[in-house]
Amino acid sequence: MIISLKDKKALVGGASQGLGKAVAAQLAASGASVTVMARNEEKLKKVVSGLPANNGQQHSYIVVDFADFGSFKIKMEDYFSNHSVDILVNNTNGPKAGTVLEKNDADYLSAFNLLFQTVQYTTALAVKSMKEKCYGRIINLTSRTVKEPADNLALSNTIRAAVVAWGKTLSRDVGRYNITVNNILTGNFDTERLTQLFELQAASQNTSLEEIIKKAEADIPLQRLGRPGELANMVAFLASEQASYITGTSIPVDGGLLKSI
Ligand SMILES: NC(=O)c1ccc[n+]([C@@H]2O[C@H](COP(=O)([O-])OP(=O)(O)OC[C@H]3O[C@@H](n4cnc5c(N)ncnc54)[C@H](OP(=O)(O)O)[C@@H]3O)[C@@H](O)[C@H]2O)c1
Repeated sequence: MIISLKDKKALVGGASQGLGKAVAAQLAASGASVTVMARNEEKLKKVVSGLPANNGQQHSYIVVDFADFGSFKIKMEDYFSNHSVDILVNNTNGPKAGTVLEKNDADYLSAFNLLFQTVQYTTALAVKSMKEKCYGRIINLTSRTVKEPADNLALSNTIRAAVVAWGKTLSRDVGRYNITVNNILTGNFDTERLTQLFELQAASQNTSLEEIIKKAEADIPLQRLGRPGELANMVAFLASEQASYITGTSIPVDGGLLKSI
């Protein structure tokens, strides 16, 4: 199977580093023109200049802050007023860790804006032209914790589950336009975000980061953290013609970490 995304345009969130950056690189390597989003303009410029462009693709970036939904909406309206995309990869930064009872109304509302509102708003704008073209791929990067909630990640567990339910519902509405909607249930990938979470765990358990990583790896059937490129391969597949009959699914990419079937 040769995956070609030639002549396709993709928009990828949270893509100045980590999972989003790996996804942008794989989509570009498969032939797509990619627009990446994050806050740090210098990092975004560097990512764009490093993306493969063997098919004469045009890559670009948008500086956005997912934590400020008001300004994010304006940026998206601006972008979609003169652009369309074939592939939308919804990925934002994660909310702060903490337990259910530690979080207050404001925490839940800002996590909802960050993880859900940004996604539904961008998707609604993207779907308009996807419907006209009768082609679209919407891929939501969520987390394996929607199936098996992780301790101390109350905001993420809760709101990402809503994103998955929303994605499933949307897939039923847009399938007739040849638009697919799928969720990836991300396992533990070696990125800055994961290191930060592990550092918090190490501090609260009075142990070292190395110990926490060793324990996490031992719990994964494949005995190691994921490499961001391994998640990006799944995104490129879901974005391709070859995934034409896959929609409304939630696919774990987690080295076997989820215990449920
Ligand atoms: N890594 C894992 O194991 C794992 C597992 C499950 C779920 N996830 C989730 O997957 C998502 C990506 O994780 P990651 O590991 O790739 O994280 P990461 O390495 O920390 O990357 C986060 C990306 O989001 C951007 N970003 C951060 N805050 C932003 C904001 N307010 N507005 C716009 N962009 C922002 C960052 O760039 P700037 O700083 O330049 O803005 C960066 O490009 C997160 O939601 C994370 O919770 C990760």
